[in-house]
Amino acid sequence: MNEQELTTQHQDSEEGSTPEGQESLFICTANHDFAAYAQEELRRLFGSVKSSVLSDREVLLVTLNEGQAQVVQKITESRPIFLRHIQPVQFQRSGENIGESLTEVASFIQSNNQIGAGVKVALQVRKSADAGGESAAQLKEWLEESLRDSEAEWVASGSDWIVSVYVTATDIYAGISRPEDNLSDWSGGAIRFRREEGQLSRAKFKLLEAEREFGLDFSAYRSAVDIGAAPGGWTSFLLERGLKVTAVDPAKLHPSLLKMPNLTYVRKNANEVKFRENEFDLLVCDMSWSPKLMVQMVTDLLHALSPGGTAIITIKLMHKKPMALIKDVISSFENSRLQVQRAKQLFHNREEITLYMIKY
Ligand SMILES: C[S@@+](CC[C@H](N)C(=O)[O-])C[C@H]1O[C@@H](n2cnc3c(N)ncnc32)[C@H](O)[C@@H]1O
Repeated sequence: MNEQELTTQHQDSEEGSTPEGQESLFICTANHDFAAYAQEELRRLFGSVKSSVLSDREVLLVTLNEGQAQVVQKITESRPIFLRHIQPVQFQRSGENIGESLTEVASFIQSNNQIGAGVKVALQVRKSADAGGESAAQLKEWLEESLRDSEAEWVASGSDWIVSVYVTATDIYAGISRPEDNLSDWSGGAIRFRREEGQLSRAKFKLLEAEREFGLDFSAYRSAVDIGAAPGGWTSFLLERGLKVTAVDPAKLHPSLLKMPNLTYVRKNANEVKFRENEFDLLVCDMSWSPKLMVQMVTDLLHALSPGGTAIITIKLMHKKPMALIKDVISSFENSRLQVQRAKQLFHNREEITLYMIKY
Protein backbone atom coordinates (compact mmCIF):
# COMPACT_ATOMS: atom_id res chain seq x y z
CA MET A 1 0.00 0.00 0.00
CA ASN A 2 1.22 3.39 -0.97
CA GLU A 3 4.91 2.61 -1.02
CA GLN A 4 5.80 5.91 -2.64
CA GLU A 5 4.93 7.78 0.51
CA LEU A 6 7.77 6.16 2.43
CA THR A 7 10.55 8.69 2.06
CA THR A 8 14.03 7.44 2.76
CA GLN A 9 16.85 9.63 3.79
CA HIS A 10 20.10 7.87 4.59
CA GLN A 11 22.40 9.43 7.08
CA ASP A 12 25.45 8.47 9.05
CA SER A 13 25.03 8.22 12.76
CA GLU A 14 27.85 8.05 15.22
CA GLU A 15 27.93 4.96 17.35
CA GLY A 16 26.33 5.42 20.72
CA SER A 17 25.83 9.14 20.35
CA THR A 18 22.35 10.13 21.46
CA PRO A 19 22.89 13.25 23.49
CA GLU A 20 19.82 14.42 25.37
CA GLY A 21 18.40 17.65 24.03
CA GLN A 22 19.90 17.26 20.58
CA GLU A 23 18.94 14.22 18.63
CA SER A 24 18.21 10.59 19.23
CA LEU A 25 17.98 7.43 17.22
CA PHE A 26 15.10 4.97 17.29
CA ILE A 27 13.99 1.86 15.48
CA CYS A 28 10.30 2.29 14.67
CA THR A 29 7.98 -0.52 13.62
CA ALA A 30 4.55 -0.56 11.98
CA ASN A 31 2.43 -3.31 10.47
CA HIS A 32 3.71 -4.56 7.12
CA ASP A 33 3.03 -1.94 4.40
CA PHE A 34 2.19 0.79 6.94
CA ALA A 35 5.61 2.21 7.83
CA ALA A 36 4.90 5.24 5.61
CA TYR A 37 1.99 6.20 7.86
CA ALA A 38 4.03 5.68 11.01
CA GLN A 39 6.62 7.97 9.43
CA GLU A 40 3.90 10.53 8.71
CA GLU A 41 2.81 10.39 12.37
CA LEU A 42 6.40 11.10 13.42
CA ARG A 43 6.65 13.95 10.92
CA ARG A 44 3.51 15.52 12.36
CA LEU A 45 5.00 15.29 15.86
CA PHE A 46 8.59 16.33 15.19
CA GLY A 47 8.57 18.27 11.93
CA SER A 48 11.53 16.86 10.07
CA VAL A 49 12.29 13.17 10.35
CA LYS A 50 15.42 11.54 8.96
CA SER A 51 14.86 7.88 8.33
CA SER A 52 16.08 4.86 6.45
CA VAL A 53 14.33 1.56 5.89
CA LEU A 54 15.68 -1.40 7.86
CA SER A 55 13.07 -3.90 6.76
CA ASP A 56 10.80 -3.39 3.82
CA ARG A 57 7.66 -1.26 4.54
CA GLU A 58 7.76 -2.23 8.20
CA VAL A 59 10.83 -1.14 10.17
CA LEU A 60 12.57 2.24 10.03
CA LEU A 61 15.71 3.65 11.58
CA VAL A 62 14.72 7.16 12.55
CA THR A 63 16.73 10.14 13.77
CA LEU A 64 14.68 12.69 15.69
CA ASN A 65 15.79 16.15 16.64
CA GLU A 66 15.11 15.80 20.36
CA GLY A 67 16.66 13.78 23.20
CA GLN A 68 15.53 10.24 23.92
CA ALA A 69 13.38 11.06 26.97
CA GLN A 70 11.51 13.89 25.21
CA VAL A 71 10.93 11.73 22.12
CA VAL A 72 9.50 8.90 24.21
CA GLN A 73 7.24 11.27 26.11
CA LYS A 74 5.93 12.93 22.95
CA ILE A 75 5.32 9.66 21.13
CA THR A 76 3.65 7.84 24.02
CA GLU A 77 1.41 10.83 24.79
CA SER A 78 0.38 11.16 21.14
CA ARG A 79 -0.95 7.57 21.06
CA PRO A 80 -0.08 6.94 17.43
CA ILE A 81 -2.34 4.83 15.24
CA PHE A 82 0.20 3.22 12.93
CA LEU A 83 3.44 3.40 14.89
CA ARG A 84 3.34 0.11 16.75
CA HIS A 85 6.66 -0.08 18.52
CA ILE A 86 9.74 2.00 19.22
CA GLN A 87 13.10 1.03 20.63
CA PRO A 88 15.97 3.39 21.34
CA VAL A 89 19.34 2.89 19.67
CA GLN A 90 22.15 3.56 22.11
CA PHE A 91 24.67 1.22 20.51
CA GLN A 92 25.38 0.70 16.84
CA ARG A 93 28.07 -1.33 15.12
CA SER A 94 28.65 -1.85 11.40
CA GLY A 95 30.42 -4.87 10.02
CA GLU A 96 29.73 -8.31 8.71
CA ASN A 97 31.30 -10.28 11.53
CA ILE A 98 28.17 -10.89 13.56
CA GLY A 99 30.05 -12.82 16.27
CA GLU A 100 32.30 -9.84 16.95
CA SER A 101 29.40 -7.41 16.91
CA LEU A 102 27.36 -9.54 19.29
CA THR A 103 30.28 -9.71 21.71
CA GLU A 104 30.30 -5.92 21.71
CA VAL A 105 26.53 -5.84 22.24
CA ALA A 106 27.02 -8.12 25.26
CA SER A 107 29.67 -5.72 26.64
CA PHE A 108 27.35 -2.77 26.03
CA ILE A 109 24.60 -4.52 28.02
CA GLN A 110 26.94 -5.56 30.82
CA SER A 111 28.35 -2.06 31.14
CA ASN A 112 24.88 -0.61 31.72
CA ASN A 113 24.45 -0.08 35.43
CA GLN A 114 20.65 -0.42 35.26
CA ILE A 115 21.02 -4.12 34.46
CA GLY A 116 22.04 -5.12 37.96
CA ALA A 117 21.37 -7.81 40.53
CA GLY A 118 17.70 -8.73 41.01
CA VAL A 119 16.52 -6.58 38.10
CA LYS A 120 14.11 -8.27 35.68
CA VAL A 121 15.29 -7.87 32.10
CA ALA A 122 13.74 -9.05 28.83
CA LEU A 123 16.03 -9.59 25.86
CA GLN A 124 14.31 -9.02 22.51
CA VAL A 125 16.22 -9.81 19.33
CA ARG A 126 14.90 -9.13 15.82
CA LYS A 127 16.37 -9.34 12.35
CA SER A 128 15.61 -7.51 9.12
CA ALA A 129 14.28 -9.53 6.18
CA ASP A 130 17.61 -9.22 4.32
CA ALA A 131 19.86 -10.34 7.18
CA GLY A 132 21.18 -13.86 6.59
CA GLY A 133 22.86 -16.23 9.02
CA GLU A 134 21.46 -17.49 12.26
CA SER A 135 17.86 -16.93 13.25
CA ALA A 136 16.87 -14.23 15.74
CA ALA A 137 16.14 -17.00 18.26
CA GLN A 138 19.68 -18.41 17.85
CA LEU A 139 21.24 -14.96 18.23
CA LYS A 140 19.18 -14.40 21.36
CA GLU A 141 20.32 -17.72 22.78
CA TRP A 142 23.94 -16.81 22.08
CA LEU A 143 23.56 -13.44 23.79
CA GLU A 144 21.78 -14.97 26.78
CA GLU A 145 24.60 -17.45 27.13
CA SER A 146 27.23 -14.73 27.14
CA LEU A 147 25.22 -12.71 29.69
CA ARG A 148 24.78 -15.67 32.01
CA ASP A 149 27.18 -14.24 34.61
CA SER A 150 25.18 -11.04 34.89
CA GLU A 151 23.16 -10.99 38.09
CA ALA A 152 20.03 -9.72 36.36
CA GLU A 153 17.00 -11.97 36.16
CA TRP A 154 16.33 -12.67 32.47
CA VAL A 155 12.60 -12.94 31.86
CA ALA A 156 10.27 -13.16 28.85
CA SER A 157 7.60 -10.79 30.18
CA GLY A 158 6.89 -8.58 33.17
CA SER A 159 10.38 -7.07 33.00
CA ASP A 160 11.72 -3.86 34.57
CA TRP A 161 13.86 -3.20 31.50
CA ILE A 162 13.92 -4.37 27.90
CA VAL A 163 17.13 -4.85 25.96
CA SER A 164 16.27 -4.57 22.26
CA VAL A 165 18.69 -5.82 19.62
CA TYR A 166 18.08 -5.42 15.89
CA VAL A 167 20.30 -7.11 13.29
CA THR A 168 20.48 -6.21 9.58
CA ALA A 169 22.78 -7.51 6.83
CA THR A 170 25.31 -4.78 7.67
CA ASP A 171 24.59 -3.41 11.15
CA ILE A 172 23.60 -4.30 14.64
CA TYR A 173 21.67 -1.92 16.90
CA ALA A 174 20.92 -2.16 20.61
CA GLY A 175 19.13 -0.11 23.24
CA ILE A 176 17.84 -0.41 26.78
CA SER A 177 14.46 1.02 27.77
CA ARG A 178 11.50 0.71 30.10
CA PRO A 179 8.74 -1.54 28.66
CA GLU A 180 6.17 1.29 28.80
CA ASP A 181 8.48 3.48 26.70
CA ASN A 182 8.39 1.08 23.73
CA LEU A 183 4.61 1.44 23.02
CA SER A 184 4.40 -2.33 23.51
CA ASP A 185 6.34 -4.70 25.75
CA TRP A 186 6.25 -7.34 23.01
CA SER A 187 9.26 -7.64 20.73
CA GLY A 188 8.53 -5.26 17.84
CA GLY A 189 4.98 -4.89 19.20
CA ALA A 190 4.14 -8.29 17.70
CA ILE A 191 1.76 -9.59 20.35
CA ARG A 192 1.11 -13.33 19.99
CA PHE A 193 -1.77 -15.41 21.27
CA ARG A 194 -1.91 -19.16 21.24
CA ARG A 195 -4.45 -20.55 18.80
CA GLU A 196 -6.85 -22.72 20.76
CA GLU A 197 -8.40 -25.97 19.68
CA GLY A 198 -11.75 -25.32 18.03
CA GLN A 199 -11.06 -21.59 17.63
CA LEU A 200 -13.48 -20.36 14.98
CA SER A 201 -11.43 -17.63 13.33
CA ARG A 202 -8.20 -15.70 13.62
CA ALA A 203 -10.43 -12.62 14.03
CA LYS A 204 -10.73 -13.53 17.71
CA PHE A 205 -7.13 -12.35 18.16
CA LYS A 206 -8.17 -8.82 17.16
CA LEU A 207 -10.67 -8.61 19.98
CA LEU A 208 -8.28 -10.17 22.47
CA GLU A 209 -5.62 -7.66 21.46
CA ALA A 210 -8.13 -4.77 21.61
CA GLU A 211 -9.04 -5.81 25.15
CA ARG A 212 -5.40 -5.57 26.23
CA GLU A 213 -4.44 -2.53 24.20
CA PHE A 214 -7.43 -0.47 25.32
CA GLY A 215 -7.37 -1.72 28.93
CA LEU A 216 -10.87 -3.20 28.73
CA ASP A 217 -12.42 -6.13 30.53
CA PHE A 218 -15.14 -7.60 28.34
CA SER A 219 -16.45 -9.75 31.19
CA ALA A 220 -17.63 -6.52 32.84
CA TYR A 221 -20.28 -6.04 30.11
CA ARG A 222 -23.75 -7.53 30.18
CA SER A 223 -25.09 -7.72 26.66
CA ALA A 224 -23.39 -7.30 23.29
CA VAL A 225 -24.46 -6.97 19.69
CA ASP A 226 -21.95 -8.31 17.16
CA ILE A 227 -22.57 -6.85 13.69
CA GLY A 228 -21.01 -8.91 10.90
CA ALA A 229 -20.50 -11.83 13.26
CA ALA A 230 -19.89 -14.87 11.02
CA PRO A 231 -18.18 -17.26 11.28
CA GLY A 232 -18.27 -16.31 14.94
CA GLY A 233 -14.80 -15.69 16.40
CA TRP A 234 -15.82 -12.48 18.20
CA THR A 235 -19.21 -13.85 19.22
CA SER A 236 -17.69 -16.99 20.75
CA PHE A 237 -15.08 -14.91 22.58
CA LEU A 238 -17.76 -12.67 24.12
CA LEU A 239 -19.86 -15.70 25.06
CA GLU A 240 -16.77 -17.17 26.75
CA ARG A 241 -16.47 -13.94 28.70
CA GLY A 242 -20.01 -14.50 30.03
CA LEU A 243 -21.96 -11.95 27.94
CA LYS A 244 -25.30 -12.35 26.26
CA VAL A 245 -24.60 -11.91 22.55
CA THR A 246 -26.84 -10.99 19.64
CA ALA A 247 -24.99 -11.95 16.46
CA VAL A 248 -26.12 -10.30 13.22
CA ASP A 249 -24.96 -11.66 9.88
CA PRO A 250 -26.67 -12.93 6.71
CA ALA A 251 -23.86 -15.50 6.49
CA LYS A 252 -23.77 -18.69 8.54
CA LEU A 253 -22.43 -18.80 12.05
CA HIS A 254 -20.34 -21.83 12.88
CA PRO A 255 -22.67 -24.70 13.91
CA SER A 256 -20.82 -25.16 17.22
CA LEU A 257 -22.24 -21.81 18.37
CA LEU A 258 -25.87 -22.34 17.59
CA LYS A 259 -26.76 -24.16 20.80
CA MET A 260 -25.13 -21.63 23.09
CA PRO A 261 -27.80 -20.49 25.58
CA ASN A 262 -26.68 -16.86 25.69
CA LEU A 263 -26.66 -16.44 21.92
CA THR A 264 -29.34 -14.83 19.77
CA TYR A 265 -28.58 -15.27 16.10
CA VAL A 266 -30.22 -12.83 13.70
CA ARG A 267 -29.47 -14.14 10.25
CA LYS A 268 -30.05 -10.89 8.43
CA ASN A 269 -28.35 -7.94 6.86
CA ALA A 270 -27.74 -5.36 9.63
CA ASN A 271 -29.86 -2.89 7.60
CA GLU A 272 -32.93 -5.01 8.25
CA VAL A 273 -32.75 -5.52 12.01
CA LYS A 274 -34.64 -3.63 14.69
CA PHE A 275 -33.51 -3.34 18.29
CA ARG A 276 -34.99 -1.72 21.38
CA GLU A 277 -33.52 1.43 22.97
CA ASN A 278 -30.49 0.77 25.20
CA GLU A 279 -30.66 -2.98 24.66
CA PHE A 280 -26.88 -3.45 24.70
CA ASP A 281 -23.91 -2.07 26.63
CA LEU A 282 -21.39 -3.29 24.05
CA LEU A 283 -21.51 -2.99 20.27
CA VAL A 284 -18.83 -4.69 18.18
CA CYS A 285 -18.59 -4.55 14.41
CA ASP A 286 -16.05 -6.25 12.17
CA MET A 287 -17.73 -6.07 8.79
CA SER A 288 -14.77 -5.61 6.50
CA TRP A 289 -16.95 -3.30 4.45
CA SER A 290 -16.96 0.16 2.91
CA PRO A 291 -16.30 2.52 5.88
CA LYS A 292 -18.93 4.96 4.71
CA LEU A 293 -21.69 2.32 4.62
CA MET A 294 -20.46 0.79 7.87
CA VAL A 295 -20.63 4.17 9.64
CA GLN A 296 -24.18 4.68 8.35
CA MET A 297 -25.25 1.23 9.48
CA VAL A 298 -23.71 1.54 12.95
CA THR A 299 -25.20 5.02 13.36
CA ASP A 300 -28.67 3.66 12.51
CA LEU A 301 -28.32 1.04 15.27
CA LEU A 302 -26.82 3.32 17.91
CA HIS A 303 -30.09 3.86 19.80
CA ALA A 304 -29.69 0.23 20.94
CA LEU A 305 -26.40 1.03 22.72
CA SER A 306 -26.94 2.46 26.19
CA PRO A 307 -25.28 5.78 27.13
CA GLY A 308 -21.83 4.99 28.55
CA GLY A 309 -21.78 1.82 26.42
CA THR A 310 -18.70 0.79 24.45
CA ALA A 311 -18.24 0.31 20.72
CA ILE A 312 -15.33 -1.60 19.18
CA ILE A 313 -15.26 -1.25 15.41
CA THR A 314 -12.76 -2.14 12.72
CA ILE A 315 -12.39 0.30 9.83
CA LYS A 316 -11.27 -1.12 6.54
CA LEU A 317 -8.67 1.13 4.92
CA MET A 318 -9.99 1.05 1.39
CA HIS A 319 -7.94 3.58 -0.46
CA LYS A 320 -4.63 5.32 -0.42
CA LYS A 321 -5.37 8.06 2.06
CA PRO A 322 -5.95 6.28 5.35
CA MET A 323 -5.21 9.35 7.51
CA ALA A 324 -7.99 11.32 5.80
CA LEU A 325 -10.35 8.34 5.86
CA ILE A 326 -9.81 7.80 9.60
CA LYS A 327 -10.38 11.48 10.29
CA ASP A 328 -13.68 11.39 8.36
CA VAL A 329 -14.90 8.24 10.09
CA ILE A 330 -14.02 9.61 13.54
CA SER A 331 -15.77 12.89 12.86
CA SER A 332 -18.92 11.09 11.61
CA PHE A 333 -19.01 8.94 14.74
CA GLU A 334 -18.41 11.93 16.99
CA ASN A 335 -21.39 13.65 15.39
CA SER A 336 -23.46 10.59 16.35
CA ARG A 337 -22.65 10.65 20.07
CA LEU A 338 -19.72 8.23 19.92
CA GLN A 339 -16.64 9.62 21.61
CA VAL A 340 -13.44 8.08 20.27
CA GLN A 341 -11.14 6.90 23.05
CA ARG A 342 -8.48 5.28 20.90
CA ALA A 343 -7.78 4.52 17.25
CA LYS A 344 -5.11 1.91 16.70
CA GLN A 345 -3.82 -0.39 14.04
CA LEU A 346 -3.47 -3.51 16.14
CA PHE A 347 -0.84 -6.11 15.30
CA HIS A 348 -3.68 -8.45 14.32
CA ASN A 349 -5.33 -5.86 12.05
CA ARG A 350 -4.50 -6.26 8.38
CA GLU A 351 -5.71 -3.51 6.02
CA GLU A 352 -7.71 -1.94 8.81
CA ILE A 353 -7.58 -0.19 12.16
CA THR A 354 -9.66 -0.62 15.31
CA LEU A 355 -11.68 2.13 17.00
CA TYR A 356 -12.58 2.09 20.67
CA MET A 357 -15.47 4.48 21.41
CA ILE A 358 -17.89 5.31 24.20
CA LYS A 359 -21.43 6.53 23.66
CA TYR A 360 -22.33 9.65 25.56
C1 LIG B 1 -14.53 -10.33 8.56
S1 LIG B 1 -16.05 -11.17 8.73
C2 LIG B 1 -16.31 -11.07 10.47
C3 LIG B 1 -15.49 -12.04 11.27
C4 LIG B 1 -15.97 -12.14 12.69
N1 LIG B 1 -15.65 -10.91 13.44
C5 LIG B 1 -15.37 -13.32 13.43
O1 LIG B 1 -14.75 -13.11 14.49
O2 LIG B 1 -15.54 -14.47 12.99
C6 LIG B 1 -17.17 -10.01 8.08
C7 LIG B 1 -18.62 -10.45 8.16
O3 LIG B 1 -19.44 -9.31 7.93
C8 LIG B 1 -20.61 -9.76 7.33
N2 LIG B 1 -21.36 -8.62 6.73
C9 LIG B 1 -21.03 -7.88 5.65
N3 LIG B 1 -21.98 -6.97 5.41
C10 LIG B 1 -22.94 -7.13 6.37
C11 LIG B 1 -24.17 -6.49 6.64
N4 LIG B 1 -24.63 -5.52 5.86
N5 LIG B 1 -24.89 -6.90 7.71
C12 LIG B 1 -24.43 -7.89 8.50
N6 LIG B 1 -23.28 -8.55 8.27
C13 LIG B 1 -22.55 -8.18 7.21
C14 LIG B 1 -20.13 -10.76 6.31
O4 LIG B 1 -21.20 -11.65 5.97
C15 LIG B 1 -19.00 -11.46 7.09
O5 LIG B 1 -19.48 -12.65 7.68
